[in-house]
Amino acid sequence: MNAATTTGTPYGTLPSASPLPLRKPVSLPRLQEMRDRGEKITMLTAYDATFAAVADAAGVECILVGDSLGMVCQGLNSTVGVTLETMRYHTESVVRGLQRVQATVWVIGDLPFGSYHESKEQALNSASVLMRAGAHMVKLEGGGWTTETVRFLVERGIPVCAHLGLTPQTVHALGGYRVQGRGDAAALQLRRQAIELQDAGASMLVLEMVPATLSADITVELKTCHTIGIGAGDGTAGQVLVMHDMLGINLGKNPKFVHNFMEDASSVRGAMAAFVAAVKDGSFPDNNLHAW
Ligand code: KIV
Repeated sequence: MNAATTTGTPYGTLPSASPLPLRKPVSLPRLQEMRDRGEKITMLTAYDATFAAVADAAGVECILVGDSLGMVCQGLNSTVGVTLETMRYHTESVVRGLQRVQATVWVIGDLPFGSYHESKEQALNSASVLMRAGAHMVKLEGGGWTTETVRFLVERGIPVCAHLGLTPQTVHALGGYRVQGRGDAAALQLRRQAIELQDAGASMLVLEMVPATLSADITVELKTCHTIGIGAGDGTAGQVLVMHDMLGINLGKNPKFVHNFMEDASSVRGAMAAFVAAVKDGSFPDNNLHAW
Protein backbone atom coordinates (compact mmCIF):
# COMPACT_ATOMS: atom_id res chain seq x y z
CA MET A 1 0.00 0.00 0.00
CA ASN A 2 1.19 3.50 -0.77
CA ALA A 3 2.23 5.23 2.44
CA ALA A 4 0.38 8.38 1.45
CA THR A 5 -3.04 6.83 0.84
CA THR A 6 -5.85 6.71 3.34
CA THR A 7 -7.45 3.41 4.19
CA GLY A 8 -11.19 3.79 3.85
CA THR A 9 -13.69 1.38 5.36
CA PRO A 10 -17.44 1.73 5.73
CA TYR A 11 -16.82 2.64 9.37
CA GLY A 12 -13.96 5.04 9.27
CA THR A 13 -10.87 6.12 7.51
CA LEU A 14 -7.52 5.81 9.15
CA PRO A 15 -5.34 8.86 8.62
CA SER A 16 -2.78 8.79 5.87
CA ALA A 17 0.66 7.77 7.00
CA SER A 18 3.18 10.16 8.41
CA PRO A 19 3.38 13.58 6.76
CA LEU A 20 7.10 12.85 6.58
CA PRO A 21 7.13 9.96 4.07
CA LEU A 22 10.85 9.44 4.40
CA ARG A 23 10.68 8.79 8.14
CA LYS A 24 12.54 5.62 8.95
CA PRO A 25 11.00 3.09 11.32
CA VAL A 26 11.87 3.88 14.90
CA SER A 27 14.29 1.34 16.35
CA LEU A 28 16.56 1.09 19.37
CA PRO A 29 19.60 2.33 17.38
CA ARG A 30 17.54 5.25 16.09
CA LEU A 31 16.42 6.17 19.61
CA GLN A 32 20.06 6.04 20.73
CA GLU A 33 21.03 8.34 17.83
CA MET A 34 18.33 10.81 18.87
CA ARG A 35 19.57 10.69 22.41
CA ASP A 36 23.19 11.20 21.34
CA ARG A 37 22.35 14.29 19.31
CA GLY A 38 20.13 15.68 22.08
CA GLU A 39 16.80 15.32 20.25
CA LYS A 40 13.94 14.66 22.65
CA ILE A 41 11.97 11.43 22.29
CA THR A 42 8.16 11.70 22.23
CA MET A 43 5.72 9.07 23.43
CA LEU A 44 1.95 9.00 23.80
CA THR A 45 -0.34 6.27 24.99
CA ALA A 46 -2.83 4.76 22.53
CA TYR A 47 -5.15 1.84 22.95
CA ASP A 48 -6.84 1.36 19.58
CA ALA A 49 -6.14 1.30 15.85
CA THR A 50 -7.36 4.76 14.94
CA PHE A 51 -5.74 6.82 17.68
CA ALA A 52 -2.49 4.91 17.21
CA ALA A 53 -2.48 5.76 13.50
CA VAL A 54 -3.25 9.41 14.29
CA ALA A 55 -0.36 9.53 16.78
CA ASP A 56 1.98 8.10 14.16
CA ALA A 57 0.80 10.62 11.59
CA ALA A 58 1.39 13.39 14.14
CA GLY A 59 5.03 12.36 14.38
CA VAL A 60 5.42 10.72 17.80
CA GLU A 61 8.26 8.23 17.92
CA CYS A 62 6.78 5.83 20.48
CA ILE A 63 3.33 4.56 21.36
CA LEU A 64 2.76 3.06 24.77
CA VAL A 65 -0.16 0.67 24.97
CA GLY A 66 -0.33 1.48 28.65
CA ASP A 67 -2.27 -0.30 31.34
CA SER A 68 -3.70 3.18 32.01
CA LEU A 69 -6.33 1.85 29.61
CA GLY A 70 -7.87 0.29 32.70
CA MET A 71 -8.72 3.78 33.90
CA VAL A 72 -9.40 5.65 30.67
CA CYS A 73 -11.08 2.85 28.66
CA GLN A 74 -12.45 0.44 31.24
CA GLY A 75 -13.42 2.92 33.95
CA LEU A 76 -11.44 1.21 36.71
CA ASN A 77 -10.20 3.14 39.74
CA SER A 78 -6.61 1.98 39.23
CA THR A 79 -4.55 -0.13 36.83
CA VAL A 80 -4.49 -3.08 39.23
CA GLY A 81 -7.49 -4.80 37.64
CA VAL A 82 -6.07 -4.88 34.10
CA THR A 83 -5.35 -8.38 32.77
CA LEU A 84 -2.79 -9.71 30.33
CA GLU A 85 -5.59 -10.73 27.95
CA THR A 86 -6.86 -7.14 27.89
CA MET A 87 -3.34 -5.88 27.17
CA ARG A 88 -2.97 -8.42 24.36
CA TYR A 89 -6.27 -7.33 22.82
CA HIS A 90 -5.39 -3.62 22.84
CA THR A 91 -1.81 -4.20 21.67
CA GLU A 92 -3.10 -6.20 18.71
CA SER A 93 -5.65 -3.48 17.89
CA VAL A 94 -2.98 -0.77 17.96
CA VAL A 95 -0.58 -2.80 15.84
CA ARG A 96 -3.23 -3.63 13.24
CA GLY A 97 -4.06 0.07 12.86
CA LEU A 98 -0.38 0.94 12.50
CA GLN A 99 0.17 -1.75 9.89
CA ARG A 100 -2.68 -0.40 7.78
CA VAL A 101 -0.96 2.98 7.46
CA GLN A 102 2.61 1.67 7.24
CA ALA A 103 3.46 3.47 10.44
CA THR A 104 6.99 3.94 11.70
CA VAL A 105 6.44 4.20 15.46
CA TRP A 106 7.98 2.03 18.17
CA VAL A 107 5.30 0.16 20.13
CA ILE A 108 5.61 -0.63 23.83
CA GLY A 109 3.26 -3.12 25.47
CA ASP A 110 2.68 -2.68 29.19
CA LEU A 111 2.90 -5.82 31.34
CA PRO A 112 -0.04 -5.59 33.75
CA PHE A 113 -0.14 -6.15 37.49
CA GLY A 114 0.49 -9.78 38.43
CA SER A 115 1.82 -10.81 35.02
CA TYR A 116 5.55 -10.67 35.88
CA HIS A 117 5.62 -10.82 39.69
CA GLU A 118 5.77 -14.58 40.30
CA SER A 119 8.95 -15.55 38.46
CA LYS A 120 11.21 -14.65 35.55
CA GLU A 121 9.58 -17.47 33.57
CA GLN A 122 6.13 -15.98 34.16
CA ALA A 123 7.47 -12.63 32.97
CA LEU A 124 8.88 -14.26 29.82
CA ASN A 125 5.54 -15.93 29.06
CA SER A 126 3.64 -12.68 29.58
CA ALA A 127 6.14 -10.65 27.56
CA SER A 128 5.89 -13.23 24.75
CA VAL A 129 2.14 -12.68 24.59
CA LEU A 130 2.61 -8.93 24.01
CA MET A 131 5.53 -9.40 21.60
CA ARG A 132 3.45 -11.87 19.55
CA ALA A 133 0.67 -9.27 19.54
CA GLY A 134 3.14 -6.98 17.77
CA ALA A 135 4.84 -4.94 20.51
CA HIS A 136 8.51 -4.07 19.97
CA MET A 137 9.23 -3.73 23.68
CA VAL A 138 7.55 -4.46 26.98
CA LYS A 139 7.33 -2.22 30.03
CA LEU A 140 7.29 -3.29 33.65
CA GLU A 141 7.13 -1.31 36.87
CA GLY A 142 9.48 -1.19 39.82
CA GLY A 143 13.14 -1.44 40.74
CA GLY A 144 15.26 -3.78 42.85
CA TRP A 145 13.31 -7.02 42.58
CA THR A 146 12.61 -6.43 38.87
CA THR A 147 16.29 -6.10 37.91
CA GLU A 148 16.90 -9.81 37.36
CA THR A 149 13.63 -10.11 35.44
CA VAL A 150 14.75 -7.30 33.14
CA ARG A 151 18.10 -9.05 32.57
CA PHE A 152 16.32 -12.35 31.86
CA LEU A 153 14.04 -10.78 29.24
CA VAL A 154 16.76 -8.71 27.58
CA GLU A 155 19.08 -11.75 27.33
CA ARG A 156 16.25 -13.50 25.48
CA GLY A 157 15.89 -10.71 22.94
CA ILE A 158 13.01 -8.76 24.44
CA PRO A 159 13.68 -5.02 24.75
CA VAL A 160 12.53 -3.67 28.10
CA CYS A 161 11.32 -0.29 29.30
CA ALA A 162 11.46 0.02 33.09
CA HIS A 163 9.30 2.37 35.18
CA LEU A 164 10.32 4.05 38.45
CA GLY A 165 8.97 6.80 40.69
CA LEU A 166 5.21 6.68 40.95
CA THR A 167 4.43 3.16 39.82
CA PRO A 168 0.62 3.07 39.48
CA GLN A 169 0.36 -0.72 39.92
CA THR A 170 1.59 -0.24 43.51
CA VAL A 171 -0.57 2.81 44.24
CA HIS A 172 -2.08 1.14 47.32
CA ALA A 173 1.34 0.41 48.79
CA LEU A 174 2.52 3.94 48.00
CA GLY A 175 -0.52 5.50 49.69
CA GLY A 176 -1.81 7.34 46.63
CA TYR A 177 -0.64 9.09 43.47
CA ARG A 178 2.17 11.03 45.13
CA VAL A 179 5.53 12.45 44.12
CA GLN A 180 8.31 9.90 44.72
CA GLY A 181 12.04 10.28 45.34
CA ARG A 182 11.78 13.23 47.72
CA GLY A 183 14.50 13.40 50.36
CA ASP A 184 18.07 12.16 50.18
CA ALA A 185 17.43 8.50 51.01
CA ALA A 186 14.56 8.08 48.54
CA ALA A 187 16.47 9.93 45.82
CA LEU A 188 19.56 7.76 46.33
CA GLN A 189 17.50 4.59 46.16
CA LEU A 190 15.85 5.70 42.93
CA ARG A 191 19.22 6.59 41.36
CA ARG A 192 20.68 3.22 42.36
CA GLN A 193 17.70 1.34 40.96
CA ALA A 194 17.90 3.28 37.69
CA ILE A 195 21.57 2.37 37.25
CA GLU A 196 20.88 -1.29 38.08
CA LEU A 197 18.11 -1.38 35.49
CA GLN A 198 20.39 0.10 32.84
CA ASP A 199 23.10 -2.43 33.75
CA ALA A 200 20.52 -5.21 33.41
CA GLY A 201 19.83 -4.05 29.86
CA ALA A 202 16.74 -1.83 30.09
CA SER A 203 16.89 0.58 27.17
CA MET A 204 14.15 2.94 28.35
CA LEU A 205 13.03 4.10 31.76
CA VAL A 206 9.79 5.91 32.49
CA LEU A 207 10.24 8.28 35.44
CA GLU A 208 6.84 9.25 36.81
CA MET A 209 6.21 12.03 39.32
CA VAL A 210 9.74 12.54 40.58
CA PRO A 211 11.42 15.90 41.29
CA ALA A 212 12.84 17.56 38.16
CA THR A 213 16.36 17.79 39.57
CA LEU A 214 16.46 14.09 40.41
CA SER A 215 15.22 12.96 36.99
CA ALA A 216 17.70 15.32 35.29
CA ASP A 217 20.56 13.82 37.36
CA ILE A 218 19.47 10.27 36.52
CA THR A 219 19.25 11.18 32.83
CA VAL A 220 22.86 12.39 32.85
CA GLU A 221 24.00 9.20 34.56
CA LEU A 222 22.23 6.83 32.16
CA LYS A 223 23.84 6.60 28.74
CA THR A 224 22.12 3.65 27.05
CA CYS A 225 18.80 3.74 28.89
CA HIS A 226 16.67 6.69 27.83
CA THR A 227 14.61 8.37 30.51
CA ILE A 228 11.05 9.23 29.52
CA GLY A 229 9.45 11.63 31.97
CA ILE A 230 5.86 12.11 33.04
CA GLY A 231 5.61 14.72 35.75
CA ALA A 232 9.39 14.57 36.06
CA GLY A 233 10.46 17.92 34.66
CA ASP A 234 12.23 18.90 31.48
CA GLY A 235 15.57 17.18 32.04
CA THR A 236 14.64 13.71 30.76
CA ALA A 237 15.55 12.27 27.35
CA GLY A 238 11.90 12.19 26.36
CA GLN A 239 8.35 12.79 27.51
CA VAL A 240 5.21 10.70 27.67
CA LEU A 241 1.60 11.65 28.37
CA VAL A 242 -1.58 9.67 28.59
CA MET A 243 -3.47 10.56 25.40
CA HIS A 244 -6.77 11.32 27.13
CA ASP A 245 -5.01 13.72 29.51
CA MET A 246 -3.26 15.71 26.78
CA LEU A 247 -6.52 15.91 24.81
CA GLY A 248 -8.30 17.23 27.91
CA ILE A 249 -10.87 14.44 27.95
CA ASN A 250 -10.06 12.51 31.09
CA LEU A 251 -12.88 11.89 33.56
CA GLY A 252 -11.23 13.69 36.47
CA LYS A 253 -9.04 16.73 36.97
CA ASN A 254 -5.85 16.79 34.92
CA PRO A 255 -2.75 16.37 37.08
CA LYS A 256 -0.43 19.38 37.39
CA PHE A 257 2.13 17.87 35.02
CA VAL A 258 -0.31 17.67 32.09
CA HIS A 259 -0.93 20.31 29.45
CA ASN A 260 -4.17 20.18 27.46
CA PHE A 261 -2.83 20.40 23.90
CA MET A 262 -6.36 20.38 22.47
CA GLU A 263 -6.98 23.89 23.79
CA ASP A 264 -5.11 25.49 20.89
CA ALA A 265 -5.59 22.79 18.27
CA SER A 266 -8.34 22.20 15.73
CA SER A 267 -7.90 18.44 15.52
CA VAL A 268 -6.62 15.51 17.55
CA ARG A 269 -3.76 15.12 15.12
CA GLY A 270 -2.98 18.82 15.51
CA ALA A 271 -2.93 18.48 19.31
CA MET A 272 -0.59 15.51 19.10
CA ALA A 273 1.66 17.34 16.63
CA ALA A 274 1.73 20.31 19.03
CA PHE A 275 2.82 17.96 21.82
CA VAL A 276 5.64 16.64 19.62
CA ALA A 277 6.74 20.16 18.68
CA ALA A 278 6.61 21.40 22.29
CA VAL A 279 8.68 18.49 23.59
CA LYS A 280 11.22 18.88 20.79
CA ASP A 281 11.64 22.64 21.28
CA GLY A 282 11.73 22.33 25.06
CA SER A 283 8.59 24.36 25.77
CA PHE A 284 6.87 21.34 27.33
CA PRO A 285 7.17 20.56 30.13
CA ASP A 286 7.73 23.91 31.79
CA ASN A 287 9.36 23.21 35.14
CA ASN A 288 7.53 26.20 36.66
CA LEU A 289 4.13 24.74 35.74
CA HIS A 290 4.48 20.98 35.32
CA ALA A 291 7.15 19.80 37.72
CA TRP A 292 8.11 19.41 41.34
O1 KIV B 1 0.11 2.94 31.64
C1 KIV B 1 0.53 4.04 31.29
O2 KIV B 1 -0.08 4.76 30.51
C2 KIV B 1 1.82 4.47 31.82
C3 KIV B 1 2.19 5.90 31.60
C4 KIV B 1 1.54 6.74 32.62
C5 KIV B 1 3.66 6.09 31.57
O3 KIV B 1 2.50 3.72 32.43
